[in-house]
Order: sequence, then structure tokens, then C-alpha cells
Amino acid sequence: MANAPQITFSPVAPGKAADTLVVFCDEGVKFGADAARMLGEAGEIVARAAKFEKFTGKSGTTLELLVPEGLKADRLVVIGVGKVSDLKQQDVVKLGGAAMGKLRRIDNAVVVADLPGAGKGAAGGMNPDQAADLAQGMVLRAYAFDRYKTKRKPDEEPAAKRSVTIATGDVNGARKAFAEREAIADGVLLARDLVNEPPNVLYPEEFARRTLALKKAGCAVEILNMAALKKLGMGALLGVGQGSTRESRVVVMRWNGGKKGAAPVAFIGKGVCFDTGGISIKPAAGMEDMKGDMAGAACVVGLMQALAARKAKVDAVGVIGLVENMPDGNAQRPGDIVKSMSGQTIEIINTDAEGRLVLGDVLWYTKEKFKPKFMVNLATLTGAIIVALGHEYAGLFSNNDELSERLSKSGEATGELVWRMPLSATFDKMIDSKFADMKNTGGSRAGGSITAAQFLQRFVDKTPWAHLDIAGTGMDSRQNEINKSWASGWGVRLLDRLVADYYEG
Ligand code: BES
Ligand code: MN
Ligand code: ZN
Repeated sequence: MANAPQITFSPVAPGKAADTLVVFCDEGVKFGADAARMLGEAGEIVARAAKFEKFTGKSGTTLELLVPEGLKADRLVVIGVGKVSDLKQQDVVKLGGAAMGKLRRIDNAVVVADLPGAGKGAAGGMNPDQAADLAQGMVLRAYAFDRYKTKRKPDEEPAAKRSVTIATGDVNGARKAFAEREAIADGVLLARDLVNEPPNVLYPEEFARRTLALKKAGCAVEILNMAALKKLGMGALLGVGQGSTRESRVVVMRWNGGKKGAAPVAFIGKGVCFDTGGISIKPAAGMEDMKGDMAGAACVVGLMQALAARKAKVDAVGVIGLVENMPDGNAQRPGDIVKSMSGQTIEIINTDAEGRLVLGDVLWYTKEKFKPKFMVNLATLTGAIIVALGHEYAGLFSNNDELSERLSKSGEATGELVWRMPLSATFDKMIDSKFADMKNTGGSRAGGSITAAQFLQRFVDKTPWAHLDIAGTGMDSRQNEINKSWASGWGVRLLDRLVADYYEG
């Protein structure tokens, strides 16, 4: 994977050569036994430096020493973790990110997976899961999308030169625990890559072609071409793509790791490879961001890759609708009426409300074809969700309390947070049309994210379903310890967790 640091696990070995040595300490600058062993005589210097710098080991603080006497490393980084007993799983992942953030691009680093008082027994300070969490955080943090940069500043060596040794008391345990987490991280990075790609490179056909790589992990991949989509009657999806010289595609990905005969879980993604708005064209400012309007589809691909790579014990299907929304002589007009695969007719009010048209057909197709246990769709659907929830939470809309609850819990566990929004008959009425069964906007800006969700709900029947509006989280995303990319890959970790905690085995 691009920019991935080379990560290896090895036993705690004081005196091992390293450019940078990273150790963790808790409040009061206390170290675990392994970290203390690695510091050796330098422990005293650390104590002095900490006192002078008023470094107390609070969470999010670091202390750096250059060429510390008694150490082989040229640089020592001490990262404060706060109270060890307060650390949740995601905090350890973030610590990995923080550690990676302190490494230079050409470093040979040793990171000591140790905390005082944590993980008892011979294994030392961090248990294998925590050492693996650290590693996952490092991989997520190291990602940078720079494949189109032909010039580098002299100090900007390719990040691939970075190698990190995670020193741990249980090398085999950590390696085993990391295999699964690496599969998930790879899925996140794949999603980020897809979202970051420019729209001249990643148009529907090319996006579809890239999903074929999932076959290597054991997924079945089927690409539905124009003829197939017409035959299925996906008039809503095809209407969106008809103003583009690029053909539309739907991709169906299947991973069968579950018991035979069980209904699959289904994930559906909006894949608008570029959204100009169509005839209801968007203003110029910021339109380049609309290359990310396929973040929902990218997440589904990353998730399927992760589930397959870690051999999840579940039957999962991922279905993505890939189109480009362009204005040209053949583009769909406001006032057009299209017929969806469900048979329901839709009056187009605004050609910029295109995501729901794509998803309406894909949701219906998925429900009919796979009779899934549930459907979760992801879509950069509305600007209104950014107004409501900012970049911190994705909007969650659902017809099912249990699924909602599970998504919320998975969100808390992974830090990919969701906030449930309402659905109701009064909002549903707002998309009734004078001329067709429904129209594609609510007619005003009021409750814009909700009327969009109501539209989707008309294509799911009684199937337990949740819609995640990720316009605020999937792209132009919040920078944090484990993400420095415009495209966050949001949702891969959340949905992988949903599957792992509730639908496997
Ligand atoms: N792709 C946009 C939503 C969007 C906006 C995503 C900003 C990410 C950042 C979507 O297709 C759209 O244009 N929605 C319209 C709907 C409106 C015309 C009813 C919107 O949000 O303005
Ligand atoms: Mn749009
Ligand atoms: Zn869009």
C-alpha cells in the first residue's frame, strides 16, 4: 500500500540501533518495565529533562531529546498517555498515530510497546492486541496521497523508506493480532486512495475496474454494464449518468465467509465519480471537491476488501452505483420524469439531488436480489448534513432501532461517530410530486438531509436499513492522529466493527 511504513515486531532488546526511539509514559512520567529497560541509564536524563520542560506525561504531550547520553538512538521521543487506566482501544490506536507523527520520513525507529501497570505477566506492558493497535494507528497515520507529485523538497524522502520496529514481549501474539488489523487498515487506505484520485482518472468504468483487485482477497466481483442496467430497468440511476460521456456501472462484490444459506448483510455506496450538479449546475468555488462524491462507494469497496482479507465469518454483499453527473445536450432536465427499477416514477426537480436517484435503484436491486438481513448505505448525500453535524458525526437515518443502536456502539468503539436523525411521515409527504410518484427534493432547504433520507426509504420496503450521510466525514475530513488525508476512508472501521461485533460466526 502506498506510503506504508515497514512494520516489524521484535523482542525488547536494549541497545538495538535506531534513529529514533519512542517510549510511552503515564502521568507522573512513569515507565513500564520494558521501556525502562530500553532507556537504561538514560532514564535519569529523561527525568531531568521532563522536570525542566515541565513534562508530566499528560495525554497528547511529548518530550523530545536529541543524542541522549547512554542511548544508541539519536533521538528519543517520550509520549505521554495520561492515565493508563483510562485508555480505551482507540486511544492506543491513536498513540500509534502520534508516534508515527513524530518520526521523520527516513527514520529507522524502534517503538516500545509498553505501559506501566498495563498487561500483566511475562508478556510485559502492552498486551499483543495493544501492540497491534499501535501498529494499526501507525499505518493509518503514515498514509499520504502523493502519487501525482513529481517534485519533492530535499528533505521529503519517500515515506516508504520508513521502517518501524515495535518492541514487544509477545512477538508472535502481536503479529497474529496485527494481521487482522492490517487487513482493516488496508481497506481504509484503499478507500482513501479511491476518494483522493482525480476525477479524470477515476471515472465509473475505471472505478469498476479497480474493484476487480478484490478477487485476489477472495471476493466475487460482478460488473453490470449499460446493457445490464437498462435491462434491469434502473432508469433513475441511468438518468443521472446520461449527461456524461462516461458510461455508468454497478458493481456487486460478494464475500462468502459465513454459514451456508444465511441471509447476507449488505452494504451499498453512492459512487458519483464527479458531481457537477448537472443542469442544476453547482457554483465554481470548491467544485473540485465533488471528486469525492463517491466516498460511500469507496468505503464499501474498502470494507469488502477488509472483510475478505481478514476472512470474516459472514456472508456480505457490497453494491455500488457508479455514475458521473454532468451537464450536456443529453443531460437530464429539471421536470423530467424517470422510472426507477422499483416501478416508482420520479419527477426531477433538481439534477443536483442525484445521489438519491442512484441509491434508489441500487437499494431496490440489492433488496430484491439478495434479500439481505439488513442494508446499510453510505453516501455523501447532502450539504445539509454538514450544517447539522459538522465533520464530527455522520448522519444516521434508519427504520430499525436495533441496527441503529449497533451502529452507534460501533461508532463509539472506533471513533467513527454517528448521530441518529429523525424520519417521519410528515417529512415523507414533502417529496410527494404533482406529476409522478415522488420528486427528488423536498422543495425547500428545510430538513434537506431528512427529505433525502425519506426518498431512500421509499426503496427499501421492510428490510432493516440504515443510511449514513457522510458528506461531512468522508471527504475534506477532520485531521487527527490517525488521518492526515483529505479522504478519510470513513466508515470502513465502523462497519467492519459492526460486522465483527454482531454478525460473525
Ligand atoms: N454531493 C452533493 C452533497 C455534498 C455537498 C457532498 C457537499 C459533500 C459536500 C449532493 O449530490 C448534492 O448536491 N446535494 C444537494 C441536494 C439539494 C440539491 C437538494 C445539496 O446538498 O445541496
Ligand atoms: Mn449533487
Ligand atoms: Zn452528489
